[in-house]
Amino acid sequence: MTIQQKFAIDGNELTGKRVLVTGGTRGAGEAIVHRLAAAGATVATTARSAGATSPSALFVEADVCTLEGAAEVAAATIDRFGGIDIIVHSVGGSKSPGGGFAALSDQIWQDELNLNLLAAVRLDRLLIPRMVEQGSGAIVHISSIQRHLPLHESTTAYAAAKAALSAYSKALSKELGPKGIRVNSVAPGWIHTTASEAMVRRLAAHAGSDEETARQGIMNALGGIPIGRPAWPQEIAELVAFLVSDRASAIHGAEYVIDGGTIPTV
Ligand SMILES: NC(=O)c1ccc[n+]([C@@H]2O[C@H](COP(=O)([O-])OP(=O)(O)OC[C@H]3O[C@@H](n4cnc5c(N)ncnc54)[C@H](OP(=O)(O)O)[C@@H]3O)[C@@H](O)[C@H]2O)c1
Repeated sequence: MTIQQKFAIDGNELTGKRVLVTGGTRGAGEAIVHRLAAAGATVATTARSAGATSPSALFVEADVCTLEGAAEVAAATIDRFGGIDIIVHSVGGSKSPGGGFAALSDQIWQDELNLNLLAAVRLDRLLIPRMVEQGSGAIVHISSIQRHLPLHESTTAYAAAKAALSAYSKALSKELGPKGIRVNSVAPGWIHTTASEAMVRRLAAHAGSDEETARQGIMNALGGIPIGRPAWPQEIAELVAFLVSDRASAIHGAEYVIDGGTIPTV
């Protein structure tokens, strides 16, 4: 059975729902766009450049690391859809070089915080008032297990930004639950994407080793992955699709780890 067959979607569970997925042209974000559209949702997505074919009803080319970019995305989404029911903040990642804390300049810290924390904070601030008006909505922040299990070789700033994102998501849930809006976060472990493969290449280049050694180094740093592999983007999308659906109507203020058992503690 192929991964596409395994996750074939039947039904129109999200018909009528207006959705924004950030970072929806590659990796987990792209899989989430496909999954939610397949469930009948009307999906907007955003990135700095258009991806391949997408089922999204609206694509906004913008840099969500800037206040202007976030404002552009929020305005375009509301203009086209007239409101918003679901936001999935998938944009994120790390471009930090290897070399530990000393390699992380002020600019790198700022870039990691902008991409992994402030992009979500700004878009939420712009869009949540629409959800409050209608008294309903669902928000998912894509964090990372690095917020529990930070790696120090190149992703200290990323891990700290994701920890802040998870704390922010929890705080937001307390404020928005009484207003009918559910807020949750998802903390993936290693996902098999082009971005994670690029990180392998960067670490190999920094260490002067080959990619297999760098890949094994990540596995070792994580303490191994009990299921023996990274997650597929479709597996992340499946969890998100559940969390934003009415099937998860009592799930709120929670963080779901999806890491193949990587985190070794309870
Ligand atoms: N990959 C993993 O192993 C892993 C593990 C744990 C958590 N996560 C988290 O899961 C989420 C998805 O990660 P991924 O690896 O699947 O992503 P990815 O493949 O790197 O895709 C990133 C997406 O975000 C867009 N993007 C990047 N910078 C942007 C910017 N400044 N403004 C607007 N769009 C931007 C990209 O398009 P453009 O480049 O065209 O802008 C692309 O659509 C992230 O939050 C990541 O931190 C990933």
